[in-house]
Amino acid sequence: MTAVAASTMEEQLAALTLDEKLLLLEGLESWRTHPVPRLGIRSLYLTDGPHGVRKVRSAAGGFGIVDNEHSTAFPTSATLASTWNPQLAERMGAAIGAESRALGVDVLLAPGVNIKRSPLCGRNFEYFSEDPLVSGVFGSAVVRGVQSQGVGTSVKHFAANSNEDYRFVGDSVVDERALREIYLRAFERVVKETRPETVMCAYNQVNGTFASENRELLTGILREEWGFDGVVMTDWGATHDRVAGVAAGCDLDMPGSVPHNRAMLREAVRSGALPLDVLDTSVTRMLELVARHPEREALTYDAEVHAKLARDIAVEGAVLLANDGTLPLGAASGSLLVVGEFFERMRFQGAGSSLINPPSIVSPRDAFDARGVEYRYEPGFRSMREERDAALESAALDAARSADTVLFFAGLSDLEESEGFDRTHLGLHDSQTALLEALLDQGARVVLVLFAGAPVELPSTDRLAAVLQMYLPGMRGGDAVAALLLGEANPSGRLAESWPLRVEDTSAYADYDRGEIARYAESIYVGYRFYDAAGTRLAFPFGHGLSYTAFEYRDAALDVDGDRVVVRVTVANTGARDGAEVVQLYVRNAPSAVFKAEKELRAFAKVRVPAGGEAVARLEFALGDLAYWDVERHDWVLEDGDYEVLVAASAADVRVRMPLAVTGHERSRSPYPPEVDRDYATPPAGIPDSFPALLGRPVPEDPRHGRLHLELRLGDARGTFLGRIVSRAIIGAVEKPYREALALPDSLERDIRVKNAYFLWRMMPTASMRSLAMSSGGAFSYSTAEGFALLAAGHPIRAIRAFRRYRRKGEGA
Ligand code: BGC
Repeated sequence: MTAVAASTMEEQLAALTLDEKLLLLEGLESWRTHPVPRLGIRSLYLTDGPHGVRKVRSAAGGFGIVDNEHSTAFPTSATLASTWNPQLAERMGAAIGAESRALGVDVLLAPGVNIKRSPLCGRNFEYFSEDPLVSGVFGSAVVRGVQSQGVGTSVKHFAANSNEDYRFVGDSVVDERALREIYLRAFERVVKETRPETVMCAYNQVNGTFASENRELLTGILREEWGFDGVVMTDWGATHDRVAGVAAGCDLDMPGSVPHNRAMLREAVRSGALPLDVLDTSVTRMLELVARHPEREALTYDAEVHAKLARDIAVEGAVLLANDGTLPLGAASGSLLVVGEFFERMRFQGAGSSLINPPSIVSPRDAFDARGVEYRYEPGFRSMREERDAALESAALDAARSADTVLFFAGLSDLEESEGFDRTHLGLHDSQTALLEALLDQGARVVLVLFAGAPVELPSTDRLAAVLQMYLPGMRGGDAVAALLLGEANPSGRLAESWPLRVEDTSAYADYDRGEIARYAESIYVGYRFYDAAGTRLAFPFGHGLSYTAFEYRDAALDVDGDRVVVRVTVANTGARDGAEVVQLYVRNAPSAVFKAEKELRAFAKVRVPAGGEAVARLEFALGDLAYWDVERHDWVLEDGDYEVLVAASAADVRVRMPLAVTGHERSRSPYPPEVDRDYATPPAGIPDSFPALLGRPVPEDPRHGRLHLELRLGDARGTFLGRIVSRAIIGAVEKPYREALALPDSLERDIRVKNAYFLWRMMPTASMRSLAMSSGGAFSYSTAEGFALLAAGHPIRAIRAFRRYRRKGEGA
């Protein structure tokens, strides 16, 4: 990946002092890397991602995420994946790359390819899918797009970061096979296919070792097996033991500027505990990254073209979940009543580090008005408030009596779904469900339009005339909704995740957000891999989505050419509208001695078919894709047997079945002890007794915390005397702006301030003293954190020394 002559790089390395090397391996002021001007080494600018460029206007402070430069707010990753159209993802990546160039950004902190283990994860809107193929294909497309503009990417969060509530301290306890087949696979595809410039490691521990110092992940798998040759950086504040981090292959400490980490590294190099050549390897990778990004003139871009692309993705990513023929709206729809504040205050993106500041927003109301649609509007409820509003409700119910069709705009608010915390249930606010039920009880014909980054529990699905899930559709989402409702566009999105009926049915339910130790006891049975085999009744299956037209599959043919399997199928549009179909190819696993999901997605293709016309979908995969991860051999093994290729319109709508015999590979044998074979033959209902046997080691106990220490979540620290003092002080500091925002009169300004302040207030109890010390830009220094921990451990003298160090130097070393 060298962009300057190797000798120059070698010369630079030789000329750097130890202190300069240490600075090169950490961030500066949250979003930049350290320059070394005397050697012409410039500072790189890194920023979020993933659905636009979030460049802070004032860079100071570790949590500077609120005041951002304008950029296009594209639909979030959940919407993007629902397009099942990777070409669109690549175009979106290229557009974001161009905007990065315009804003002087060298590396975009995106995409996020973590697997959606549970719909409760607050950050699912930033991820693609429960399926590793979809996640990997979309991740690759985004990386290709962004990097085509000469801007680097940072594929995140590596790895097994499946919840927010425990992300700073938690341990993802995952068996080797699930890790390989589910949680690492998307990263593997992206790394091998697209050579991302950087990878961002996750906050959490993976099988007992923090990702930021997990040598097996960062060096063994990522570099030695997959050939990654770029920089690994920490997530913001993910460093624990910096020396162990560098030794494990973690190059760059972000946001950095923690003198303690620098001092530890300096000491380790001087004492020989960390060999200089290990440090130099990381420094060289940083030099290579800098060399790839020389100072360049800022580009300009056509903001309107990007806004139009955002709109097109929102149209393709919307999923028509149900429709009794009421949609598209037309003469038969009669008079329209619109209910729900999301109509004018559309939720178009999530909350947290991905927050974009778009130059403009088109709400559904703007789009209806621009088209001259006649409607009556009653808000019915406040989108950012949980409590019901009797006056608004009765106005909506009254209005519905004289309307022929009610369009109910509902969704999750930023107070329910965000980076930094998880949902505790799948429901919508009472203020929405109670009104919706009342409208249905009154006999209204209701079309539900949803703005939510993840599945929600739907009240009375069978009584709704139609359900259109917009996900989080970006700044032009309103125009997309109008186009779809009115039939200017034909829905073609498909779910990239299963939509459960109840949270109790979800595949990770046995152990999700129950403590620091997250037991991934469901193993490979994630999403449809679980529901298929468990026979779970779902609201909507993986891959589901309706159209205003209908498709038939004809003349399917399968060819095996060496290692490649190619399936061709003719898709006929038998309806009266042009449309697009997403043809999904699953392979049903052969009967095996090893437990497996019933079927797994191996390819997909989106085809556009004119009304009355036909198109051929071509789907291809490698036989090797059918291999499973053998935990005895620590390798992929392809078993002989009678597989079946399923051509389908969703995981529950198989249209064509074709046999596929695999021979000449391995005979089926189980690498597991018999109790694992028995308990995992079908998806486990709880945590099986054989989970330790599957894991190959005892399952760690949830730690008991008797006193305040560095790795304790502030929320959990409240149970200890000192912890109460510390957490009150810290949480109190972020609570004040939140309370002030809540007290503001109703306005868009109030919503924005509430949203941003709430994110920090709600996230803070999940932070540990260490993660704060690592990310607060000195506001809460490592010495202070250490002082409190020493005090709690009964070492007052050492504690005072630590506090003094802080007072003397402003930031303890
Ligand atoms: C998030 C990352 C993000 C980083 C910088 C972290 O809290 O987990 O996804 O890139 O902050 O904003």
